[in-house]
This record gives sequence, structure tokens and C-alpha cells, in this order.
Amino acid sequence: MISYTVWSEAGGIGKTTVSVSLAAAHARNDQSVLVIDMDPQDGGLTHHLGTEDHRKDPEVDNLVRHLVERPKGDFANLTQQVEDNIDIIPSHNMLSDLEQNLNRAAKMEESMHDANFRWPKEKQLRRVLADADIPNEYDVIIVDPPATVGQHLYNAVYATSNLVIPAELSPKGKQSVDGLRDVVDGIEEKLGDIEIGVLGVVPNKVSDTNLQSEYENRLAEQDLPVAPVSIRERGSMLGEAWENQVSIFQLAENDEYRDLRDYEEQTLDKFDQLAKYITEQFEQPTEAPA
Ligand SMILES: Nc1ncnc2c1ncn2[C@@H]1O[C@H](COP(=O)(O)OP(=O)(O)OP(=O)(O)O)[C@@H](O)[C@H]1O
Ligand SMILES: [Mg+2]
Repeated sequence: MISYTVWSEAGGIGKTTVSVSLAAAHARNDQSVLVIDMDPQDGGLTHHLGTEDHRKDPEVDNLVRHLVERPKGDFANLTQQVEDNIDIIPSHNMLSDLEQNLNRAAKMEESMHDANFRWPKEKQLRRVLADADIPNEYDVIIVDPPATVGQHLYNAVYATSNLVIPAELSPKGKQSVDGLRDVVDGIEEKLGDIEIGVLGVVPNKVSDTNLQSEYENRLAEQDLPVAPVSIRERGSMLGEAWENQVSIFQLAENDEYRDLRDYEEQTLDKFDQLAKYITEQFEQPTEAPA
């Protein structure tokens, strides 16, 4: 099973855009995909895929209830199909208080066990996915957490073990490039018992390819793999996909929307290549013949 979290500490860098587009690309390669929106903010992935109907209802079952061991129903009922081969677990407003909810649950669980018992707050997403047999149900799991470092990210990291990191390789995105290795190492150190695989840094919103190669060299110095695919500045097409609450692939395929320009179609190819590049990293190397 392929699993990864699309994350960068920089806000607005394209985490959600990359998550949605990669999900759609995997789906078109006959991979069944589950995307999990861990970001409490409005207008994120859940909005993008048109599944925000119940996010404000405090009564409804949602991911947080499962994370704190107080589910109201089957985990499978949290998932909604949005396109062929793509299911989503939508965001819910309770994710805004995830940290407090986990603290409360930990206190409760620990009070019911001996003094040495620790309820691991950061491993709850991994637990609920395993209990629901999700790793065997889907080919690909993608988690979209908020940019902040905290329990959303920690849970995402334990559940997926891998990161795909969108980055703006430009002076403007400088803070998202410099020190990236340290940020990843810092998370590993904090968690203590996990090795995070960086599947690739994905240059996004690229408009100046010269600058991009300069920043790629800086990333190489930090020992981070740069994906062999970069995504160019495509505000118009992405804005339309967002407004219509569909992936860019749906935008291209559905007659309801305008025809894409050739250079826009190329961006779909890029995401297709990126999904394949990620998939290859999970394929077992075949043994050389004796
Ligand atoms: N390649 C691109 N070209 C042009 N605009 C882009 C590109 N990628 C993303 N954007 C735009 O940038 C904005 C932020 O993107 P997105 O929401 O994916 O970022 P994010 O990292 O998930 O943000 P947040 O930190 O708020 O979760 C959106 O308006 C999106 O359409
Ligand atoms: Mg986002």
C-alpha cells in the first residue's frame, strides 16, 4: 500500500492542490485512493471536493470521534466517494480542537490503567485505519494536514510514514526550502520511533526555471530528493477546479467546463508522472536472476 502525507510548514504552498491532483492522477491509473482531510480550516480539501455538508454539525460522527475512541458509528461510514476510485474522509470542525480532545482522551485512558500506561496521542490515526483494515482496502492513502507542526501532522506521519513536500523554489518561498531537512529531522526526533521517508520535494507554482534549478541545488545539498516533476504556475485552471469543486482531471474530462489549453493539459501529465514516480518508490525491487 502506498501512503503519504502532503505537507510543508509553509502555508498556501499548494499542499491541498497537490493532494487533490495526485489523488485524481492515481485514480486514473486504476489505483483506489482514500484522501483524509485533517485540516480544520474552511475552504480546504473538503471544500475542494464538495463534501463539507456535515462539517459544522457537532452531533455527526467524524474522524475526531474515532481518534479519541468515542465513535458514533462504523469507521467505513466516514468515507464518501467523490469520483471513481476516490473516497474522502472529510474535515470536521472538531479537528480545530484535536489537541485538546486527544489530551482529554489520554487523561481518561491513562486514569484507567496503571501508572506506566501511556495512551499515544500521535498514533491514533494509525490505530483507527488499521482497525478498519483501511490499508488493505485502498491502494493509496493521502493525508492533507494543516501546515502547523502538532498532533494533526504527528498523526498523519505515523499513519503514512512518508512525506511529499510541495515547495516554492523561489526567493519568495525561501523559508520553505532552507532548513527543510532540519524540519523533517526535528519531527523525527520529536516522535522518536519513526523514520520518515521523504518521497520527493515537488516544486510548485514554478514560473522561473532558472531560479528553480538554483534552489534545487540547495535542496540537494540538504540531502532531500527533488521529484523529477515540477508544477508550473496555473492559477486560472486551479481556480476553476476549486470553484467547481472538482479535480483538474474532472475539469478536463467533463464537457460542462471550458476546454483546457495545451499548456494546461501538460500540468495533468505532470501530476500523472508524479503519481507514477511515487508509486514506483513503493514497488519491491525485483531480485536479479542468479
Ligand atoms: N501550481 C499552482 N499555480 C497557481 N496557483 C496555485 C498552484 N498551486 C496552488 N495554487 C493556488 O495557491 C493557493 C493555495 O493552494 P493550497 O490551498 O493548495 O495550499 P495549501 O498549502 O494547502 O494551503 P494551506 O497552508 O492554507 O493549507 C490556492 O489558491 C491554489 O489554487
Ligand atoms: Mg491546505
